[in-house]
Formats: sequence, structure tokens, C-alpha cells
Amino acid sequence: MSVLIRSVGVHIPERRITNDELGKMVDTTDEWIRSHTGIGARHIAADGMLTSDLGADAAKKALAKAGVSPKELDFILVATATSDYLGFPSTACIIQDKIGAHGCAAFDITAGCTGFIYGLEIASNMLSARRGHHALVIGAETLTRVTDWTDRSTCVLFGDGAGAVVLSNIEEGGRGVLKTILGADGGGALDLYLKQAERPKSFERAPAQVPSIVMNGKNVYNFAVKSITVLIERIMHLSMYRLEDFAWIVPHQANARIVQAAAKRLGIPEERFYMNMEEYANTSAASIPIVLGEMEDKGLLKRGDLIMLLGFGAGLTFGGSVIRW
Ligand code: UT7
Repeated sequence: MSVLIRSVGVHIPERRITNDELGKMVDTTDEWIRSHTGIGARHIAADGMLTSDLGADAAKKALAKAGVSPKELDFILVATATSDYLGFPSTACIIQDKIGAHGCAAFDITAGCTGFIYGLEIASNMLSARRGHHALVIGAETLTRVTDWTDRSTCVLFGDGAGAVVLSNIEEGGRGVLKTILGADGGGALDLYLKQAERPKSFERAPAQVPSIVMNGKNVYNFAVKSITVLIERIMHLSMYRLEDFAWIVPHQANARIVQAAAKRLGIPEERFYMNMEEYANTSAASIPIVLGEMEDKGLLKRGDLIMLLGFGAGLTFGGSVIRW
């Protein structure tokens, strides 16, 4: 038996903001954003839409494509940095209710932009160990709700969206999630974090504060380039595959310059990496499943193709997965 990605569903909000439009809100230009990040636009969740709405829509599409009923799910795992509620209840429980998957286990994980890769590894192992049948792994974010729109160094980077995959534990000759590497460097925790009201030091009410993203861009940039480089080297070392065996390398869509720098360091042509941050910007845990959905729609993922997923982000966390599609 192996655990394989049966289907992908994606939710991209309709509302789209270009770099030029952002240039009217903060002191920035299309030229600066494109040359420093490769980003051209981002999509923003409609007023009133929550992370769970985006995730539930992506989940319904993935279930319909796989022909799996919500009632057949063993569990739902949501990777998000922007859960509907702070702390509890989990966004996974809210999605469970919205898609009518009553009764199955549901929980969130926090691993920043690497959340989808962490989720894949947890879900694959749970399905195998418990001899389960089907699970949903969802990456869903409404990052623009925690963006400081006066900070030009971060507000140009992020967007909203969701991607979901149905994982099934079935016999399918060699296909599936083959190998995953996960890691973290908690020493860099404050290089990228969500600033909230300071916790009270005693029994008193904390002042309310809208959370917002705080980032040391240079540190995160260096960590990201190193993560991609080290992950690819480790995957090559730990598996019997050669780089030529991979049809695609799918990195987290943070910044094209990060991918280009890592590709140059390793001597890998940039075209081997699939990138779509130009249209969607950085959607954190949702970026990899959104890419997979787009690649599938374009017919770029063929059954039996070997692909490599690479994630890095807040934590600081990193992770890579080898998948036989
Ligand atoms: O999932 C992980 C999420 N995080 C990331 O992926 C971020 C990783 N870091 C980065 O991608 C880069 O560090 C940034 C794109 C955020 C910044 O690029 P940089 O080349 O490191 O720029 P910088 O911070 O060194 O800033 C250079 C200049 C500064 O001006 P001065 O001090 O040289 O006059 C900034 O104030 O660019 C200025 N700047 C901007 N100018 C126009 C910063 N942001 C902007 C902006 N528009 N949006």
C-alpha cells in the first residue's frame, strides 16, 4: 500500500491587486517589486470570507475530483498561519463542518510556509500506521488580513488562497509520497513572526491589537536560499534518484530571486523549478498545493512523474518531499 495524492482543489479569490495599485497605497513601484521578488499581483479574499471558507472550497473541489465523499474521510489536516480564530477552535474543525465531513478527526498544524509539507508527512504516516483510507491536507491562508499595509517591505509580498489534496492509502504500484525530510531552526523564530498584543504578565486583560507580520527580510532570504540548497542535496544523498529523474522541482512560492539564487548555487537550470508567484505572490502554506493545481490544469503533471516539493518559512522551518505523481 502507498499513500498518494489523488486530486488537487484550489481556491483563488477573484479580487486581484497589481503592483501598480499597491504603488498608490505605499511608496513602492512595479519595477522594484518585480526585480526584487518576481511578484506582479496578489489575490485578496473577499470581505467577510475566512480562511475556512477558502479552504472548504478547495477541499470540496479536491473531493469531487477524487470521487471521495466527505463521509469517507479519516481526518482533515489544515496547515495555516492565519486560522479563523486565535488558538481555538481549529480551522480544520470549521472546515469539517462546512464540507459535511462530520465525525472524522480534524486539526491544524503550525509550520509557517512549510506547513503543507509537514502536513503531507503527518497525514501519510497517519494513514499508513492506522490503515486509514482517505485524508484531506489543506493549505489555506488569508495573509492579507495580517499584513501591515503601511510597511512596504512586507505588504508587497503576500496574498490569499487555498489548496487542498485528497490523500488515499491504496495499492498503485510505486506511486505516492515516497520520502520526506523535515527540519527547523527555532533560533530564527523572530526573523518572521506574527506580532500580537503582548501577553499579560499577570492575571489581567491584554490590550487588543490586530496581529501583523514582522520580518527580517535579509535573514529569511538567506535561510530560504540555504534551505532549498541543502534540501536538494540531502534528498539526492538520501534517495537513489538523480536530478535528471525529476520532472519538476516545486518550491514554496516566496520570491523568484530566492529560487534563482539556489538554482545558480546548485548549477540547476531555473526552468526545472515551477514558479507562479508572479500572479499569486506568497500564499504561505497554500502556495505548494496552489502550484500543484495549476500544473495539473496545464497538463504538466503526468502519472508516474517524479516531483520534488520544497518548503521553507516561519519557525524557521524547512522540508522537502519526493512524490511519484
Ligand atoms: O515565506 C517566506 C517569506 N519571506 C520571504 O520570502 C522574504 C525573504 N526576503 C526577501 O525576499 C527580501 O529580503 C525582500 C524582497 C523582502 C527585500 O529585498 P532586499 O533586496 O533584501 O531589500 P532590502 O530590505 O535590502 O531593501 C533595499 C532597499 C531599502 O531602501 P534603502 O534603505 O536602500 O534606501 C528598502 O527601504 O529597498 C527598499 N524597499 C523598497 N523599495 C520600494 C524595501 N521594500 C521596498 C518596496 N518598494 N516594496
